[in-house]
Amino acid sequence: MAALFEPVRDLPTIRRPHINLEAVPRDWYGGSPEITCFVNALHLFIPAGETFFVRTVNAASRTIPDPLLKEQVARFVGQEIIHGQLHRSYQRMQIDQGQEISSWLCWYEQLAYGRMEARRPLVLNLSITVALEHLISSLGEWILKPGHSLAQVADPEMAALFHWHAAEEIEHKAIAFDVYHAFSGNLFIRWLGLVIALGEMLSFWLSASWHLARQDSRIKASTLVHGFAKFPDFLSIIPCLLRATWLYMWPGFHPNKINNDALAAEFLREFDPMMTGGG
Ligand SMILES: [Fe+2]
Ligand SMILES: [Fe+2]
Repeated sequence: MAALFEPVRDLPTIRRPHINLEAVPRDWYGGSPEITCFVNALHLFIPAGETFFVRTVNAASRTIPDPLLKEQVARFVGQEIIHGQLHRSYQRMQIDQGQEISSWLCWYEQLAYGRMEARRPLVLNLSITVALEHLISSLGEWILKPGHSLAQVADPEMAALFHWHAAEEIEHKAIAFDVYHAFSGNLFIRWLGLVIALGEMLSFWLSASWHLARQDSRIKASTLVHGFAKFPDFLSIIPCLLRATWLYMWPGFHPNKINNDALAAEFLREFDPMMTGGG
């Protein structure tokens, strides 16, 4: 099926940033155990999730003859692999800080990929990937926007990790979508993928947050309210996800219609001198 929107066909750059996570303090998000715990939960499910994206996009793209799209997929895969590696390297820091994460990781990987992914057809796994890519690039725009507390209060290395990841998600936001439209393009399966993606992302995020929070005796129901009240931009994650969902539902939606490329490009322009490698 033809793409719904003439895609921007710039090739993303594969970067390997110098980000040193070894000296990140325990409460790296503005000294708040609650917000740090909520964001640390991302390090638990992102790496295996990105491996899932790579598997599905790679499998679907084998059937697509478009050489430019194949090259874009190669860059997409290169970026996602490095994202996963850096987030996984922080898992080692979490273990060094005394957090028990292996039981949650084992449960999550068995359930999400050993059972759920294995029982779904490729087209549905691909549509879930496409929806997650859209949700993640929308969250990327949310944290890159001026005024977000990540830039102001977080440990600089951790802020760099999330900003770089966010900017690259925007940079490659249309690739999985274009593969889906070349592979199938079925609108109902695309909508179903969004429903499953939202359900899985929120469930695993809350579950991982709960797993980490219950190991930290400083976090209680009363401190949770205080912790989130101190960083009200975290409440704006709800309208951000609602808007992303609304846009995605339109039959004529294409990621390149979302005007956030300049935000990512501006960040990457300043960030590039810190990096090695390249694609
Ligand atoms: Fe990523
Ligand atoms: Fe991505």
